[in-house]
Amino acid sequence: MQSMSDYYSAVQLRSDQWIALREATNALSLKPTGTASVALLKTVDTVFESLAPIETYWAFPGAAAFDHLRRQFEHRNFEDLAFSVRRILRALTSGAYRRRTIPLERDDIESDDLEDEALLSPEARALTKPYFEVLIVDELSEHQERWLCGSLQRMRRADDQFIYESVVVPSLEDALIGILFNHNIQAVVVRPGVTLKSKNELPILKRYLNRVGDEESVDALRSEDYGAELCRLIARVRPELDAYLITDRSVEAIAGLDLGLCRRVFYNQEDFLELHLNILRGVQARFKTPFFTALKDYSKQPTGVFHAMPISRGKSISRSHWIQDMGAFYGPNIFLAETSATSGGLDSLLEPHGPIKEAQELAARAFGAKQTFFSTNGTSTCNKIVVQALVRPGDIVLVDRDCHKSHHYGMVLAGAQVVYLDSYPLDQYSMYGAVPLREIKHQLLKLKAAGKLERVRMLLLTNCTFDGIVYNVERFMEECLAIKPDLVFLWDEAWFAFARFGPTYRQRTAMYAAEVLRDRLKRPDHGEAYAAQRKTLADADVETLLDTRLLPPPDARVRVYATQSTHKTLTSLRQGSMIHVRDQDFKGEVEQAFHEAYMTHTSTSPNYQIIASLDVGRRQVELEGFEFVQRQVEAAMSMRRAISTHPLLKKYFKVLTAGDMIPEQHRESGITSYYDPHQGWNDIWEAWASDEFVLDATRVTLSVGGTGWDGDTFKTDILMDKYGIQINKTSRNTVLFMTNIGTTRSSVAYLIEVLVQIAQELDELLDDASKMEKLGFERRVRNLMVDVPPLPDFSRFHDAFRTDRTTPEGDIRAAFFLSYDENNCAYLDLNGTVTGGDDSGRELVSASFIIPYPPGFPILVPGQVISSEILAFMRALDVNEIHGYRPDLGLRIFTEEALVEHAGGRNRIAAE
Ligand SMILES: Cc1ncc(COP(=O)(O)O)c(C=O)c1O
Repeated sequence: MQSMSDYYSAVQLRSDQWIALREATNALSLKPTGTASVALLKTVDTVFESLAPIETYWAFPGAAAFDHLRRQFEHRNFEDLAFSVRRILRALTSGAYRRRTIPLERDDIESDDLEDEALLSPEARALTKPYFEVLIVDELSEHQERWLCGSLQRMRRADDQFIYESVVVPSLEDALIGILFNHNIQAVVVRPGVTLKSKNELPILKRYLNRVGDEESVDALRSEDYGAELCRLIARVRPELDAYLITDRSVEAIAGLDLGLCRRVFYNQEDFLELHLNILRGVQARFKTPFFTALKDYSKQPTGVFHAMPISRGKSISRSHWIQDMGAFYGPNIFLAETSATSGGLDSLLEPHGPIKEAQELAARAFGAKQTFFSTNGTSTCNKIVVQALVRPGDIVLVDRDCHKSHHYGMVLAGAQVVYLDSYPLDQYSMYGAVPLREIKHQLLKLKAAGKLERVRMLLLTNCTFDGIVYNVERFMEECLAIKPDLVFLWDEAWFAFARFGPTYRQRTAMYAAEVLRDRLKRPDHGEAYAAQRKTLADADVETLLDTRLLPPPDARVRVYATQSTHKTLTSLRQGSMIHVRDQDFKGEVEQAFHEAYMTHTSTSPNYQIIASLDVGRRQVELEGFEFVQRQVEAAMSMRRAISTHPLLKKYFKVLTAGDMIPEQHRESGITSYYDPHQGWNDIWEAWASDEFVLDATRVTLSVGGTGWDGDTFKTDILMDKYGIQINKTSRNTVLFMTNIGTTRSSVAYLIEVLVQIAQELDELLDDASKMEKLGFERRVRNLMVDVPPLPDFSRFHDAFRTDRTTPEGDIRAAFFLSYDENNCAYLDLNGTVTGGDDSGRELVSASFIIPYPPGFPILVPGQVISSEILAFMRALDVNEIHGYRPDLGLRIFTEEALVEHAGGRNRIAAE
């Protein structure tokens, strides 16, 4: 059995302990009476001891059933005990307890093989009432507890849409542990008897409390304020939950308190029907899916179709002699739901007034935005919409150079003056990290010194990056606003939609950070701190400003946009994406332009199935996002642990840690890895609360150079062709395994099995290899792991596309369109030879985007000077796919004449 410290999460510990209990009680039941060994009895006793504090937070099997098991054990009733434990474990694994009462006595069961839940058809499952648990917080005697839960149970009615069970804990700390541990909880009822401290001493549970912070403020509370404080803290760690406060204090005393998202305050303790109805209504508010429901209803209506879309209602398929298989494959519903109608209960994405509007409002609530807009064409489109809505031609935009190509095209379309920001390079792994805050501040201060701050409009960063580097969003915005108080932020969260539903992750999302920042700016203590800092920094030089954690002025504007590919990390059909907005000036300044930009890029025939899936995906995250994200992180963590402790795997592979992927100066906490074979788990909370960058644990980058294969060969020839494992991103010597909310412990186990097999085969191969073959292998490894080409920085825009040389911004749009005339272009091969123009020692300038894959972002943009480092990097780049590069001709560059003429023309216009 694993020791407690081996567990990353209490959820895994719980399920393993139940398995251990089943094994041990089974063994007991097979022994003839009175012959059980002391060791076996001790094992059962120990497992009971470790499960006892854990089970107090779960309604199933519940305190009474757990006591019953222990009594069976004490009375040496081993057969019955083994039977009950088996039933409980089966119900926990299959989820059967969610659908019916689980009888634990053998006499209660007519036949042992009750329907197996796993075999229930999806239709049958859809018809059962969803189940959840309600956490009641009150210090009660056993008798009072039974009475309270029973009273709520008696309120059940046949037409209730959901079914729930209650679980009672005594204290504020227990309630916080409960909501972070038990993912079945959807509502919390805080009663007047709540105490402060938990008596539970289990470290793995107490660890959850670190996640809440605010230790001191809680300790300083008066006991009558515990309830209100708990409501506030629930809103902070699990904002999607419903909290109800039952109080015996006066209305006036309660009115002045911050109750977080408390749905309702009850002054009458025993009005169970009201409470019951409110609990159900609260869950219904998250469960409802306005557009999905409207679409389902529409599909049931008989209609004659006299407009576009012959596929609507499947008519063009059912009458066909040749495409019947399509109908058979997809089934009838999708065609019944296909329509180009925007009325009859449906709505228009371009001008929403009905269920799409409501679905977007619910999504805004779920993701913590003020406004949310759905997109049916991916985040590529969302990015272009936001950029067009906010950036006017000539505005300066600071852009992370290795961001997704949609941003670069967005800059071309908007006519922005672009300042490209360099991420720190990870030469050893041929990948880039993220843009250090110092680099951004430096660029802003340079623009300020050049008198151009007025024109700076937006900062655009990718959070998290493809490789999983996550920014300290709040700190970045805070310090940038200190220099440019109305800067607009666009955070590309294409890979980060799930983050909202993990409490640790949430703090690094754009919407959450914007909310916190807006609140902070309003606080008097912030105003005082700002005034004091302003005085100290009155004559500060650039270095001091770079070294100081700058505070934004209290009147800074919080203007934040996030774009998310819902389809990448949550449930949605492909291309389903969302734009979330928290911009104080949206209504006054942006709304109209946003509408135009939305119209520019959105199809007039948006796909209804994608919209419906976004609506349902939102429902899911509000009700079980927490559970799914928790499981996803656990799966990734167990993968890390398995690879870094397996003796054979360690020989050829290495999971890159935060220490490998984030330089020390950006990791203030000093934490280098989530798991260390010697020290066990590090609590990631501390790093996530403070460090400039952290590593998204759900993305596991594996260094594979030690196998002698480069990332791409390992991906294609080994993982994909031999074992059917699909991955996406590779670098010269790494591959990236992305977990998602569908990743299970068994899929992780399969991957580990495959890696072990690969390592074993390599071992055998090398064992039998000749001396020459071994030398060849070592050389390949060295070539991949040691002789790595340095990654080039963004060089600069050529002077022809710059207004002056004081700051680096360039006119990417002018360069992009200059290349439309073939006569302006020549070609450069990777050895430096130019065809179609003169190359007499002049600066060579790219005329197009050159995007090698991997890494998948432009190594050159139109107007950029081609440095010798870039050419050397491209020569060393052993990838097959380079978008924009023509192997027969080379890189497209501008001719000298074109550059001179363009610069001359621009200067003439400037002079006039
Ligand atoms: C950082 C980033 N932003 C945006 C996108 C585009 O998203 P979508 O595929 O939803 O258009 C991607 C796609 O990979 C991406 O990695």
